[in-house]
Amino acid sequence: MSTREPFQVIEGMPEKAFNRIIAGITHPRTALKPFYTSEQAIIYNEDYREVLARIPENTIDMIFADPPYKLSNNGFTCHNGRMAPVNKGAWDTSKGVAEDTAFHEAWIAACRRVLKPEGTLWISGTYHSIYQCGYVLQKQHFHFLNDIIWFKPNGSPNLSCRFFTASHETLLWVRKDKKAKHYFNYQAIKNGEFPEDKLKNQGVQMRSVWSIPTPAKEEKKTGKHPTQKPLSLLTRIILASTKPGDIILDPFNGSGTTGLACRMLGQRFYIGVEIEREFCELTERRLCSILPGDEGGEAYATQ
Ligand SMILES: C[S@@+](CC[C@H](N)C(=O)[O-])C[C@H]1O[C@@H](n2cnc3c(N)ncnc32)[C@H](O)[C@@H]1O
Repeated sequence: MSTREPFQVIEGMPEKAFNRIIAGITHPRTALKPFYTSEQAIIYNEDYREVLARIPENTIDMIFADPPYKLSNNGFTCHNGRMAPVNKGAWDTSKGVAEDTAFHEAWIAACRRVLKPEGTLWISGTYHSIYQCGYVLQKQHFHFLNDIIWFKPNGSPNLSCRFFTASHETLLWVRKDKKAKHYFNYQAIKNGEFPEDKLKNQGVQMRSVWSIPTPAKEEKKTGKHPTQKPLSLLTRIILASTKPGDIILDPFNGSGTTGLACRMLGQRFYIGVEIEREFCELTERRLCSILPGDEGGEAYATQ
């Protein structure tokens, strides 16, 4: 069962904006009860459509979305040196190109409505989904900022030995309004330390190819999600594209990596939506596993 911390409305900005948004989602008449709340994070065990429809338009600073890639096709991959099914769950099954594209069209439109004009949206994917998302983004008039290659230096080997070993994912970073000015924390990204990334030297500009290993065992100590993202990937994204006080939304929360990264960086407000209860429970365990003092560490104090 969820241990719900009592949610308190905090006076003052920018907490006020966050509290106004969640007061709207959680309004007694809408009957959407949060699964987990703390002063700076809220998780809903709901379909993203229910929650996003209740968020006022132009209110969210940044959205990270890791939508189902729709790649669960009964194939096989290699896991820890053994053959393992690629299937992630019913939520990841493809319904064909037209229906999958319609799915991306719907959630991207819902995100567009709630983003501020200068707000940005990140989407992760592989070739199974990322081109459909890119097409939809163009159709919906987003402005492209970057496409990032996330290279996984420890990606699983290819079992069939008939083609190249898949070892990257793509991240699209786009802005809602072509004319608005988005936020980019250039100095922190150029001068920060990223020891996990063998391609990045301190003091030089970060390029659009990021080398980040898949999540370490340590990151799965409270349970596993089949498509969990590395914490360092999300910390980097949030550090680069948000500032203290910003409101961050993840409509496909999964194991809550985005919320965890917000908590590690500190001074960010987080709204997560996840349809599967077991993943909400995992998120809660992960959020509660951060020891006092872990969050908002000194390294990020001025970010
Ligand atoms: C690719 S995973 C996200 C993984 C996450 N980034 C992490 O690091 O753990 C996608 C998640 O979206 C959830 N999901 C699928 N359809 C959904 C919907 N309509 N509304 C909310 N969540 C949904 C799935 O249950 C799954 O956990």
